[in-house]
Amino acid sequence: MELGAPLDRVEGWDKVAGRARYSGEQRVAGVCHAVAVQAEIAHGEVLAVDATAARAVPGVIDVLAYGDAPALADTSDFELAVLQSPRVAYRGQIVAAVVAETLEIARHAQRLVRVTYDELGHDVELTPDHPGLYRPEKISPDDPPDTGEGEETPAEVSVDVTYETPAFHNNPMEPHATLAVWEGDHLTLYDSTQGAAAQRDALAALLGMPAERVRVVAHHVGGGFGSKGVPPRPNSVLAALCARRVGRPVKLAVTRQQMFSITGYRTPTFQRMRIGASKDGRIADIEHHVIEQTSTAREFAEQSGVVTRMMYAARARRTTHRLARLDVPVNSWMRAPGECPGMYALESAMDELAEACGIDPVELRIRNEPERDPDSGNPFSSRRLVECLRLGAERFGWSSRPEPGTRREGRHLVGMGVAAATYPAAARPAQALARVADDGSFTVSIAAADIGTGARTALTQIAADALGVPVARVRVEIGDSALPYGPLAGGSMGNASWGWAVLRACEGLRDGIARYGGAEPGLECRADTSGEIKNQEAYARHSFGAQFAEVRVDVDSGEIRVPRMLGVFAAGRVMNARLARSQFVGGMVMGLGMALTEESRMDREFGDYLNHDLAQYHVPVNADVLGIDAIWLDDPDPHANPLGGKGIGEIGIVGAAAAIGNAVHNATGHRFRRLPISPPSVI
Ligand code: MOS
Repeated sequence: MELGAPLDRVEGWDKVAGRARYSGEQRVAGVCHAVAVQAEIAHGEVLAVDATAARAVPGVIDVLAYGDAPALADTSDFELAVLQSPRVAYRGQIVAAVVAETLEIARHAQRLVRVTYDELGHDVELTPDHPGLYRPEKISPDDPPDTGEGEETPAEVSVDVTYETPAFHNNPMEPHATLAVWEGDHLTLYDSTQGAAAQRDALAALLGMPAERVRVVAHHVGGGFGSKGVPPRPNSVLAALCARRVGRPVKLAVTRQQMFSITGYRTPTFQRMRIGASKDGRIADIEHHVIEQTSTAREFAEQSGVVTRMMYAARARRTTHRLARLDVPVNSWMRAPGECPGMYALESAMDELAEACGIDPVELRIRNEPERDPDSGNPFSSRRLVECLRLGAERFGWSSRPEPGTRREGRHLVGMGVAAATYPAAARPAQALARVADDGSFTVSIAAADIGTGARTALTQIAADALGVPVARVRVEIGDSALPYGPLAGGSMGNASWGWAVLRACEGLRDGIARYGGAEPGLECRADTSGEIKNQEAYARHSFGAQFAEVRVDVDSGEIRVPRMLGVFAAGRVMNARLARSQFVGGMVMGLGMALTEESRMDREFGDYLNHDLAQYHVPVNADVLGIDAIWLDDPDPHANPLGGKGIGEIGIVGAAAAIGNAVHNATGHRFRRLPISPPSVI
């Protein structure tokens, strides 16, 4: 099958037959089980940990707490300095751990551990006028918090509105799990991670060990969405400490409930959008002011305003980011960090501008297409937003969109909305090894991560294509830090980064075979793309897309149903049509949840998010997903990388919530500027 074909996942049969082992399913002799004890206060100090009753339970091996836990070499990151100090920075922080012969014994004993605290008052609520708001030095990944260019001018039409998004929690199907195995001074972690090599390096630094003595294995990962990226989460560190302490392999599986405090989430935001335009919809000034939270345990500044720096032409552009440092769990990456909440605000405001100008929202966006990246001044490597909008409008039947609040069908108000999408397309250096195996087939090795996206399959197709052989003759080894270096599955950079190195290694091997006159077993070629990446020309590299949604709003209950969504993407060359569609649609499903049902609510009294499971945190289920389709342009980008791919993991969520919110306005004639748009807020 050629590159781009909808090949089934190469490990699909292993997964459905239970042969594919996830980290928590790895089997080693003599394994015992650890369970974390979590802080019951949001701010203060641990005074004492009384483990007498827990230790008395038959089968309990040990209890670890501050004061007797193994020391870490690097304690500069408080979130990862597990059990290294009595300080409590957020409710749910790990303050002790029980290790026992079985999981059941460990869970029972965990409840018997008595922790006493010196409790200090906590501050856990983000407000738009929080007195502690400050400007971070930089925002993620490495950008200035504020930008300002051009002079403000009096505008004929202006929009000045604030949008509010709640905290959202990552909920991959597989909760984080780690099996830590020490052999002498070597540590092997079977760990649910988005990047084995990055995880190895981070753990080695924390433990004060050379990276060669740490190995991280993650053959299969059941979703991550950023929550299994770097820096690691504290559960991985705790597993390593417990195994060191008891001198046996230790398995630590985070529960779904614990994921709501120790594995990251997306910050709530307040985003003020101010747009000044001429009557014909040409933007003169645009401002995007972002207020977010961060934890006292570690700063994370989500880059929500960056989209307004590059999305539309404007004479003047101003963006700011302000943070409040709260006594809350550490927020971190969640699918399309920055772009996702930022485009919700920008694309909702564009809809408001379209209405204020009396211009069709598709046309408004087309009118504001920039010739170059307004932020860097560089040309776009390719930017086919207008084609996405036009194709989507045609396919979706956009011309039948009603005037706001005018279409009623029985109990339902019906409307349509549109929003643009964008996500950066980058690649990081990687290495790969391609070799001829003993039976004349090919093996390609790289420490890539397949977090459920199908990366293993896409890389197999890339390798087969470059070698000029059928996919059945290629085996791709990934998910192990002992393999040639591969960067994280994150920032939608995985496939572009790994694929590039795999391509070069396979091209080299093919040349070698041609010179040698045959595929001799043992013949091999190594590739490293760092030089090529460094010498890339300056382009603004981004994927683009257009999201369309139709909603039906029940006038009695306020329930919103979404019978149709369509995403049209220009996201570079697609390596596998089936996997790509799943990524786009999956992102759009997350956008549906963001728009209508997902919300983590802070309990001010206890200082923690109230919802701690999927009964209280509503991700979309099959009954919510009525008709989502994703299509894409044939869009190889020669300036992105030699494969022409751009990364498709995150763009599907971007703009999806705005398209739904805009459709709700079209249906009802009302603006709802706070997510989720749930029945109580509609009625
Ligand atoms: Mo993505 S949030 O960079 O995994």
